[in-house]
Amino acid sequence: MLMQSAQQSGTAHVIVLGNEKGGSGKSTTALHIAVALLKAGQRVATIDLDCRQQSFTRYINNRRAWAGQAGLSLEVPDHHCLQLGDSMQVAENEAFELEQFAQAMAAVERTHDFIVIDTPGSDTFLMRLAHSMADTLVTPINDSFLDFDVLGSVDAANYTVIGESHYAQMAREARRKRRQHDGVTTDWIVVRNRLSMVGSRNKMLVAGVLDQLAFRLGFRPVDGLAERVMYREFFPRGLTALDDLNEATLGRRPSMGHVTAREEVVELLRKLKLPLDERGRRRAANRAEWALQADKPLDLHDIVGS
Ligand SMILES: Nc1ncnc2c1ncn2[C@@H]1O[C@H](COP(=O)(O)OP(=O)(O)OP(=O)(O)O)[C@@H](O)[C@H]1O
Ligand SMILES: [Mg+2]
Repeated sequence: MLMQSAQQSGTAHVIVLGNEKGGSGKSTTALHIAVALLKAGQRVATIDLDCRQQSFTRYINNRRAWAGQAGLSLEVPDHHCLQLGDSMQVAENEAFELEQFAQAMAAVERTHDFIVIDTPGSDTFLMRLAHSMADTLVTPINDSFLDFDVLGSVDAANYTVIGESHYAQMAREARRKRRQHDGVTTDWIVVRNRLSMVGSRNKMLVAGVLDQLAFRLGFRPVDGLAERVMYREFFPRGLTALDDLNEATLGRRPSMGHVTAREEVVELLRKLKLPLDERGRRRAANRAEWALQADKPLDLHDIVGS
């Protein structure tokens, strides 16, 4: 079985981005995590399970293309994108997609430190499988009750959590299977995305229900990215808030907002508590040393350092 072989022979730490709700920030967060890890000297593979939309794949392709076009050295992960099966039979399509997934995992699990898997905003067979393989499951949610609804339901009178929704039950079941299978407890982190920069009643109430549900389901709720137009502007050039944003990369001078965005991504990575490979840290430190000697801007080598 795929999960068995990955866990027995593989050493890569698997990070899965998942939320059945579309548009919650999975692909944006996935690229930021992958680039952060690359900048920390880790060997990173990425897999796009959103075979139809392929936003993650396009984001990475845009990054590679922009690096080539502008002569920049932007880190690019070893990326794999799965194709959709085109049979009329659901079972045949699932078998075809499973085979591709198995091949993609087999190609990277021993040669990389991390595998970052982006999943679609819908309940699919591969998306469920990926959830049961996650060492770290990252669920971005937009900071609104409508988005919270995929995780849990709330009593309208007093804002207490009264139930768990479909996606939350699926994720809990996937974790249970994983624990039974090899004793590993998936670290599940629910990341509040597109946070408003000012305090509001909504922000406070959503924080309250997330804390309640975290207690019931055993995930860690953390603050993620603020609502910033720049995260939308990055896509055509495949940039992230962690890149050296200057006239060459961005096409304009970076703003204070870029500096703050970078800090919030660094902070998010710290909160994910990912197990960094020591050799990778040294690789990144050496690179930073070299960059310093070459009188270039210091690379962000310690972004996920503890
Ligand atoms: N922090 C943010 N601030 C502003 N816009 C954001 C932020 N994060 C994501 N976005 C925008 O929100 C939209 C959805 O983001 P993204 O595609 O990453 O979500 P997704 O969960 O992968 O969506 P899907 O379920 O469709 O795959 C995009 O237009 C993206 O640019
Ligand atoms: Mg996506």
